[in-house]
Amino acid sequence: MPRSTRLFTRLSLARRRHLRAGVSLHSHTIHSRESFAGVPWTPPLNPAQAVALETAQIQDLGLEPLVSLTDHDNITAALELRATSAGRRAPISVEWSVPWRGAEIHLGIHNMPPARAGERMAALARFTTIPREYDLDDILDWLHEDPSTLIVWNHPLWDEGGLGAARFDSVAKEFLRAYRPWLHALEVNGLRPWKENHRVMRWAAAEALPAISGGDRHGCEPNAFLNLTRAATFAEFIDEVREDHRSRVLMMPQYSHSLVRRLWANWPNRYNRRDEAAILSFPTAGGRLRTGTENA
Ligand SMILES: [Fe+2]
Repeated sequence: MPRSTRLFTRLSLARRRHLRAGVSLHSHTIHSRESFAGVPWTPPLNPAQAVALETAQIQDLGLEPLVSLTDHDNITAALELRATSAGRRAPISVEWSVPWRGAEIHLGIHNMPPARAGERMAALARFTTIPREYDLDDILDWLHEDPSTLIVWNHPLWDEGGLGAARFDSVAKEFLRAYRPWLHALEVNGLRPWKENHRVMRWAAAEALPAISGGDRHGCEPNAFLNLTRAATFAEFIDEVREDHRSRVLMMPQYSHSLVRRLWANWPNRYNRRDEAAILSFPTAGGRLRTGTENA
């Protein structure tokens, strides 16, 4: 069984000829509630705008787009998209908050079966509210039993809850030891520093898990990591990751820019008016100007 993660910093014409789609995983819309330095805010893009932004970046690479939006603890974005003819196949995905031994663990749950998404979400919400550790195996087992659902540990080495480096490190290792059988991939995150992402990739390799991309876009800059695939559908891509343990990650040029500059460019107050003009003025990595709607 092949097990490999390959990281590319550019996509050559020769390589592109053997690929079919670019996959955008892990990004947020107006349906996520955020806090930045204690100030509550909401990402600026609605689901259609978010898909359009990610689609444009992937089409610029000459690939077909597969976009999975993952708001915090809700699937409203996917439900809204699926109510339109253009979005009827949108994957139902979520970034699930998993409180665990004092740490804030985030799991990306991608492509839940539409007929079961409601009951899945109810179980996830129950755990987030009342996190009884002994329930977690059952929930993960339940998610894992759908062969077309992907479970990704997002930004696994980010101590988001502020436990402290040593304590968080030990909790993260305990989490991996306990739940490794249900995790399909670890995430290389577009808003985390390279040193941390590099450690995640080494960790994934040591555990024989693929490392997979996650842009974690909150603002108007498209995801800084994508996956590349020969798959024609999102379910086929998931099969490639789950069964073949294969992942091709593409680092986009914006990732090499200063993180502080990128975060400033995405500072919520600059965009939280949901102002089309602000979205219009945000350049993609290739320097072209895109609106949030022109590709919708
Ligand atoms: Fe997260």
